[in-house]
Amino acid sequence: MIELIGAHYMPAIETDRLTLRRLTMRDARDIFEYSRDADVARHVLWDAHTSLSDAKGYIRYMLRRYHSFDPASWGIEWRETGKIIGTIGFMWIQFEHSVAEVGYSLAKNYWNRGIMTEALDAVLHHAFYDLRLNRIEALHEVENPASGAVMRKCGMKYEGCMRQKLYNKGRYVDVNLYAILREEFSSQI
Ligand SMILES: CC(C)(COP(=O)(O)OP(=O)(O)OC[C@H]1O[C@@H](n2cnc3c(N)ncnc32)[C@H](O)[C@@H]1OP(=O)(O)O)[C@@H](O)C(=O)NCCC(=O)NCCS
Repeated sequence: MIELIGAHYMPAIETDRLTLRRLTMRDARDIFEYSRDADVARHVLWDAHTSLSDAKGYIRYMLRRYHSFDPASWGIEWRETGKIIGTIGFMWIQFEHSVAEVGYSLAKNYWNRGIMTEALDAVLHHAFYDLRLNRIEALHEVENPASGAVMRKCGMKYEGCMRQKLYNKGRYVDVNLYAILREEFSSQI
């Protein structure tokens, strides 16, 4: 991911209430605290953490990705307390087509306060204006409508339902695809 090297690789991003920043091993307890919650893990492709070492393993994986400049996730820091309350980032980036997929998760205590909408909007801004990408995609399980609401609130458009696209926690699940183009994002700011 040589194209990501330089000032634009995973910079810290400030929003009204949040700081998106790279994870460090010191965040393991915060990550474990919310990732052990089955409700948080229900519609994502990882299993609820069962011990602190699961969170440490996840952070180690992210540190390797930062080190090799691969697409990765930021920790979402609730600035008032400095606590990590979620993650958001790129699942993959295809520079030849200027397209990427975003994904995210948030601690349950913080749901329904517009936090992921605030974080996603900032990541879209970074993707279009710093990384100069042209199209950002996001997927959510049909049974996870709150995630679709976040995508719509950020201006992403529904492009269709992929039937039984993923095998998650013992069953095939239908998945909605949303996307936004740079020209659409720039017209809304
Ligand atoms: C999905 C998730 C990221 C949403 O984050 P959030 O910060 O609560 O999102 P926001 O507050 O910005 O917006 C949530 C919207 O969903 C709506 N919503 C919540 N529950 C809903 C439901 N059951 N059905 C429909 N809409 C719902 C809220 O009303 C809100 O919309 P509004 O502002 O128009 O009222 C969060 O719930 C989460 O992390 N869940 C666990 C991990 C996960 O599922 N990640 C996404 C994988 S695709």
